[in-house]
Amino acid sequence: VFSNSKDASTTVANEIASLIKSKQAKNELCILGLATGSSPIRVYEELVRQHKEEGLSFKNVVTFNLDEYYFMQPQNAQSYHYFMHEHLFKYIDIEPENINIPKGDIQPEEIYDFCVSYEEKIKSYGGLDFQLLGIGRTGHIGFNEPGSHANSRTRLITLDHITRVDAAPAFLGLENVPKKAITMGIRTVMEAKRVVLLAWGQNKAEIIKETIEGEIDGHVPATYLQNHNNVTFVLDVEAVAELT
Ligand code: F6R
Repeated sequence: VFSNSKDASTTVANEIASLIKSKQAKNELCILGLATGSSPIRVYEELVRQHKEEGLSFKNVVTFNLDEYYFMQPQNAQSYHYFMHEHLFKYIDIEPENINIPKGDIQPEEIYDFCVSYEEKIKSYGGLDFQLLGIGRTGHIGFNEPGSHANSRTRLITLDHITRVDAAPAFLGLENVPKKAITMGIRTVMEAKRVVLLAWGQNKAEIIKETIEGEIDGHVPATYLQNHNNVTFVLDVEAVAELT
């Protein structure tokens, strides 16, 4: 628990930077699972700073983003492709071919094969070394909304109404928010070797309480993380306000 999200984000960025450097020293790739949204923005800011000012290199980094809206063109300003380029990728030296983000602009009949190949690609690298997560007010991680199964993998989902309401300002109205998304599954996230979940602000206090203190249940998908053997919740004082 941190007094503010800036210090918390720096701590998380430092852990990611150390992991990248330790893999570099062994001549290994570093496989990162990344999130979008407001929560990780300062983590990415700090990684960009370390790249510019301290020479942190991303040449050995391969990234897999959690999710993307469907249907969504990558060049659209609301896409998670756009977000990742604006907040991280365009400032660092990652190889473009090492960036993986679910495709929001494929045809419906291509989705199943795309999802299977996304999973296979993660597996081909030996799995995710580190997965960064935010949490939605529904208890979603990635876009695994209430009802998601513990064994779920990358797939097309229907967004929860609350999630669409929360996204509405960015889309200038609820009617413009896509109804679907492609997301990594609960199983995909649970297989990451290390998981760090970020949550800031009082808006998240209730779901953080349910996630940490509640029963493990698909109605609050983030509760599955209670079964992960290497997970840390990095929170600010407002997000822990409801914990007993
Ligand atoms: C984004 C994602 C979502 C967000 C969550 C919280 O890639 O997977 O689960 O992490 O909706 O969003 P923010 O951080 O905007 O509150």
